[in-house]
Amino acid sequence: MLHVLHVVGTRPNFVKMAPVIDALRLYPAISQTVVHSGQHYDQCMSAEIIDDLGFPAPDVFLNAGSGTHGEQTARVLASVEQVLIDRRPDLVCVGGDVNSTLAAALAATKLGIAVAHVESGLRSFDWSMPEEVNRVLTDRMSELLFIHSPEVVEHVAAEGIELRRVHFVGNTMIDSLTRLEGVARARRPWERLGLQEREYALVTLHRPSNVDSIAQLRRIVSALTLLARHTPVVLPLHPRARARLEQAGLLSLLERAEVRCTAPMGYLDFLGMETGAGAVVTDSGGVQEETSVLGVPCYTVRPNTERPITITRGTNTLLGDDPAAIATIALERGARRRHLIHGWDGHAGERIAAVIAAMPESARPHEPRMDATRERRRRLAPSDLDASPARVGVADAEPAGVHRAQLLGTAIDRLEMDEVVARCERSIDVRAPIQHVAVNAAKVVAMQQDEDLRRIVNRCELITADGQSVVWASHLLGDPVPSRVTGIDLMLELFELAERRGYRVYVLGGRAEVLDAAVAKLRRKHPRLELAGWRDGYFSADEEAAVAAQIRRARPDMLFVAMPTPRKEYFLARRGEELDVPFSMGVGGAIDVLAGVRRRAPKVVQRLGLEWAFRLAQEPRRLFRRYLVTNSRFVLLTLRQAVRGTPGRFESQP
Ligand code: UD1
Ligand code: UDP
Repeated sequence: MLHVLHVVGTRPNFVKMAPVIDALRLYPAISQTVVHSGQHYDQCMSAEIIDDLGFPAPDVFLNAGSGTHGEQTARVLASVEQVLIDRRPDLVCVGGDVNSTLAAALAATKLGIAVAHVESGLRSFDWSMPEEVNRVLTDRMSELLFIHSPEVVEHVAAEGIELRRVHFVGNTMIDSLTRLEGVARARRPWERLGLQEREYALVTLHRPSNVDSIAQLRRIVSALTLLARHTPVVLPLHPRARARLEQAGLLSLLERAEVRCTAPMGYLDFLGMETGAGAVVTDSGGVQEETSVLGVPCYTVRPNTERPITITRGTNTLLGDDPAAIATIALERGARRRHLIHGWDGHAGERIAAVIAAMPESARPHEPRMDATRERRRRLAPSDLDASPARVGVADAEPAGVHRAQLLGTAIDRLEMDEVVARCERSIDVRAPIQHVAVNAAKVVAMQQDEDLRRIVNRCELITADGQSVVWASHLLGDPVPSRVTGIDLMLELFELAERRGYRVYVLGGRAEVLDAAVAKLRRKHPRLELAGWRDGYFSADEEAAVAAQIRRARPDMLFVAMPTPRKEYFLARRGEELDVPFSMGVGGAIDVLAGVRRRAPKVVQRLGLEWAFRLAQEPRRLFRRYLVTNSRFVLLTLRQAVRGTPGRFESQP
């Protein structure tokens, strides 16, 4: 029997942990204990949320309550420790980043009990946030790290945490949403407030950086009163925010401006309000995620987010430190585009339960263990650690996927080849799906006209410069990309990696005979490479689903799609979710080069940045238009922007 003890304490904890507890119930060999720390205790912050979720009545209630960080954390630490001594669980399961999470992880670790952390790896790199301290320290103590976004693999890897402990499982908060969205929407809670669907903005605020600073709170209140002049505003007030507004005498200002200040809502009413909102303004972590999935525009009153995936794949926009922009937010009344994010699919709890159930005996000892993280750090050269982008507490480190170079509406990662390869390797090891796209001048030009292509490219987890012209333009426009990481070079590097690590490779695309020749060459060059399958790229739209199913059944670790732009991008965008492949990329005509049908420019020509001239000489008819028309347009676009020095049409896109 495996005994799992969960420690919860705050509103978001119940939402995140309910699906895990539900899923573990299906395992007869697992027993569970639920401990409520009492960090949140008001009816509306605890009991109502618990009821709405059907969360089990806690077995133990600790009554830790409010206080300074030290007092609160210490009370939870001491009281959880006693429960652990009495009940001797095999695993302590915590979620999120609140003080109860850190305290419970610490109590368990000191007693030699393994810790599982749900929603691990998120980093804002803002050490002034209490939650950042809680996240980093809890991850450091965890035996099982359950992550919901691929980019966070980079954070934990940079902190020296072994990847064998990290499991990409998806988002349990979205499990709760998926289960209850229909019920929540059917309540039409906006009607009880006399409002119409899409005709209001929903606002939540509770971060200390917004509500504990009187100056910032004043700025927010002023912007909200301006917003309320043209848009109905609903503000369910977190107790921390209510207390600060009352102390500062600002609550009456909001009420006079007819901002509807309500008590915190139950989960179903709040979720219902989110589905019906025309826009959401928030500083909540969970609300950024929920609105992303629902397709509701979200404006986050923070300078940073530990959830960049809600920007790259969702609906989130960061407003920064200055909340004045709140006043001009427009409601979105048009059709909603629901956002598919890998693993945010309603089944994360089940995946967590499966990992816990398979946890080896050796991972759950009740006596001191070897610290594997430290061992690993010792094996790394000191220079490896210095180069780490995510050192604990370094405020200017960049969350993966957000602070990318921007070039005429295209985001580009500032990464060298070895970093790109390392990211691919880590993602495959954790099975956290990432897609790579290589951007050349033609693609940048195509993206000016094709909004869908632009969106698809910018959603990719890895975006690199395929052409020298892209690197040149990035330098000219003052947002430089360090070097080219071309699709073909990356593909060749990844074949080597796949052979070395035993990853299974699938190649899709090209003419059948060319593909056969490429596969034969590949086998000669990499005799130990495991090919999961290959298939030519000549199939109709009707056959696409069957092709995707065939790839899925082959269970590759890497997928190379050798089709022309934008076909390969659209294929991966439409089918990426169902393929369930940890790494995929489009490689265009690289298969022709691999097959020997076409030659690549000699290295010296490549280094001189003249590969385009070499290719043009080889295929003048096919490439004439691309190089002389499209590339000239690219140069013109770049020069125009350089002269203007003003942001281009898409410059604000992530
Ligand atoms: C906590 C978490 C935060 C999370 C938020 C979710 C930490 C450090 N912060 O912030 O990450 O986003 O929960 O809502 O753990 N209070 C009540 N009734 C309650 C609970 C709190 O009146 O049921 C008041 C008390 O005055 C208390 C204040 O709210 O001092 C803050 O509560 P606390 O749990 O310390 O932090 P939160 O701001 O809720
Ligand atoms: N929530 C709620 N009632 C409210 C406001 C939020 O039930 O009045 C839910 C919301 O849907 C989400 C969770 O609480 O599931 C987010 O919690 P919160 O914003 O308090 O914390 P954070 O996510 O920032 O840690």
